[in-house]
Amino acid sequence: MLASLERYSDSVFRTLCYSHGADLTFTEMAHVESFLRRNRVSLEKIEPRDATPVQIQVLSGNEGRLDRFLSSFKPFDGFMGFNLNLSCPSKDVIRQGKGAAMVKRAEKTARLVSTIRDHGHPVSVKIRLGLNQYEKDNRLYLNNLGGVDPDFFVVHAKHAAQSSDEKEDNSVYPECVEAARGIPVIANGGIETPEMVQSLVEMGVGGVMMGRPAMGNPAIFDYMKNELGVNNPPRPVPTTDDLKQEYDDISEAIGGSEEYRSRFLKVVGETRPHY
Ligand SMILES: Cc1cc2nc3c(=O)[nH]c(=O)nc-3n(C[C@H](O)[C@H](O)[C@H](O)COP(=O)(O)O)c2cc1C
Repeated sequence: MLASLERYSDSVFRTLCYSHGADLTFTEMAHVESFLRRNRVSLEKIEPRDATPVQIQVLSGNEGRLDRFLSSFKPFDGFMGFNLNLSCPSKDVIRQGKGAAMVKRAEKTARLVSTIRDHGHPVSVKIRLGLNQYEKDNRLYLNNLGGVDPDFFVVHAKHAAQSSDEKEDNSVYPECVEAARGIPVIANGGIETPEMVQSLVEMGVGGVMMGRPAMGNPAIFDYMKNELGVNNPPRPVPTTDDLKQEYDDISEAIGGSEEYRSRFLKVVGETRPHY
């Protein structure tokens, strides 16, 4: 899966990754309240451009407002459901009781999941390992995995006080998989090689999600699938120049933005993208 990447994963980038092996993509995060206010920038994030499979990622801490938004939401081709963001580490978001602040609030999360289901939509939940080391040490993230019932969880194996340079703690996955009671757990964070994917699969995860590695190489999904024998026969993995050309072709076909294009051009081809 291609991770949500604010300011990068617009529909052009999502379609590029999908055409190179990402099974599912996610929009950039947006507050439910911004949809209710009809905020143009937020609405553009969920504007359908083509049928690339996508879940809409939302930040919400209030099922009433979520319900109000869903009452006017119309599914489109490629719409695969909603993803609740319980992983955003921004202080602003946490102060509002959203993002990573929600990791320990299993009952609240369960109500948000039910609200989305009541409208007939699939739903997934993306969590971190809590707000800080204390919450991680006390395994408060297991509350959510054990008490909420989405179609799948995504676990970004870091807590919200960790910087992007710190390493993920992949040792949590076996316990996460057990706590999730058969609901698939998708691993996320620092997954860069087929060997890492293999070892995560051996821990019982149902799939992987990649963000920064895909910014550098949008064809990393097919590369991984080729190496792991999932693509049979293997699919071609294009060069960076080919990927730039494909980006422009998609952008022309579905109407991309110059802002996103220039950000894409700065990171594509980098092994560790500086964003
Ligand atoms: C530029 C950038 C923007 C991001 N935006 C979002 C976002 O909108 N929603 C979200 O859940 N995570 C966001 N993330 C986190 C990623 O989805 C992902 O969880 C994280 O980068 C770890 O995965 P990776 O090591 O494969 O990049 C963002 C990360 C980056 C680098």
